[in-house]
Amino acid sequence: MKSKSSFICQNCGFNSPKWLGRCPNCGEWNTLIEEVEEAVDAEFSFPPSDPILYKDIKEAKRERIKTGIKELNPVLGGGVVLGSLVLIGGEPGIGKSTLLLQVSRDFAAQGEKALYVSGEESLEQIKVRGERLGLKNGNLYFLAETNLERIITHAEKLNPKIFVLDSIQTVFSSKLSSGPGTISQVREVANQVFRFTKKSQVSSFLIGHITKVGSLAGPKSLEHMVDVVLYFEGERDHSHRVLRALKNRFGPVSELAIFEMGSRGLKAISNPSAFFLKERPADEAGSVVVCTIKGSRPLLVEIQALVSSTLFTGNPRRMTIGLDHFRVAMLLAIVEKKLGFSFAGEDVYVNVAGGLAIAEPATDLGVIIAVVSCVKNKAIPPDMTVFGEVGLSGEIRSVSQPLTRLKEAHSLGFKTAILPQGNLDHFKKEDISDMKLLGVQNVKQALSSLF
Ligand code: TYD
Ligand code: MG
Repeated sequence: MKSKSSFICQNCGFNSPKWLGRCPNCGEWNTLIEEVEEAVDAEFSFPPSDPILYKDIKEAKRERIKTGIKELNPVLGGGVVLGSLVLIGGEPGIGKSTLLLQVSRDFAAQGEKALYVSGEESLEQIKVRGERLGLKNGNLYFLAETNLERIITHAEKLNPKIFVLDSIQTVFSSKLSSGPGTISQVREVANQVFRFTKKSQVSSFLIGHITKVGSLAGPKSLEHMVDVVLYFEGERDHSHRVLRALKNRFGPVSELAIFEMGSRGLKAISNPSAFFLKERPADEAGSVVVCTIKGSRPLLVEIQALVSSTLFTGNPRRMTIGLDHFRVAMLLAIVEKKLGFSFAGEDVYVNVAGGLAIAEPATDLGVIIAVVSCVKNKAIPPDMTVFGEVGLSGEIRSVSQPLTRLKEAHSLGFKTAILPQGNLDHFKKEDISDMKLLGVQNVKQALSSLF
């Protein structure tokens, strides 16, 4: 067998014949590690296929099993598909093992056979965690093992419906000589689990740790190999976690579920809007509630702004948390140009309360109102909510799903909404007839209706 070695970037998977201090592909330093590329024999476990006419292709009946966590099913596209491989990525300590233990526990309670393989924790440690999560005597098997070939052998013998591998970075294949966690190992592990998954028609979950902010390191290079990619994110200092789909071959993406970590594991939050608003201060200037859409669901969140005179004349601060920095800078420029405010001597901080990240332009108007409310030191009525995209000339542009947003606000007791005029004419107001709706065409109009 011929084997040659090459240097692989552990951040992005870039392959170089010689060592480099800095990866030319992703720009990270000291990420290239020498890995021996063994010529893995092309072992095709699928039968050779012939070309086929479109009309002769049979529609695949996807058998799905629902997880015991109601909020998780939409993220998976309506439950897990048998014979699919799901990758769950997230920072260490975010709750990936906890989530999958709970999922396995619930499957086992439904009578399905589940196998949970841990390369990270001993059986004793799993026992302790299981006690907290209330694991019972269901059909749930555990295996503490790091050798992939042995794991697959056990799995094939046991033939479970659900297979969890925790984590992809701690397991290694003896076919390769590089250490566990390297890119080539991670790929090989995913490959073998993929083949096992398809051959045995099990639902498999791979857990992958994110090593750096924003990059799935090794696991990033697997996204194309697996059927579903889920990310588990959250601030360490907040109790809530957001699970969202990044890729799903069997359903829509951008659905999300919000969980709270408690003493008995993760609990899905069934009313996220109420959760994110529960600590909102009443009658404080600089705070406004916006209706945003996350996945297919509406979500109400509080946007906070603080404007205070700067110590850094000539270079005042612009800080945003949970919002796009450049978008907020643009909105501040619009406020200066169109409304005559000046932030030249001011630091401006804009924050999404609760640690969520929002990328939707429908929050634009909310950001502007929060900032102006702070400057004028005038609070927004607590039962008012806003949404609308703002264009460069200060015009308010329509956004998608206005009624969905308004209904969510209505169900939480909001009485007034400021929204794009263009949206106002395009839906029936029956369900929310007691809400006062203010349609606006530009920021000037929006602010004069408030202040
Ligand atoms: P874990 O699931 O091990 O995270 P990951 O597998 O993503 O690395 O657990 C995350 C944290 O949650 C850990 O610090 C302990 C805590 N935790 C609870 O607060 N309550 C619980 O019931 C459990 C099981 C864990
Ligand atoms: Mg873990």
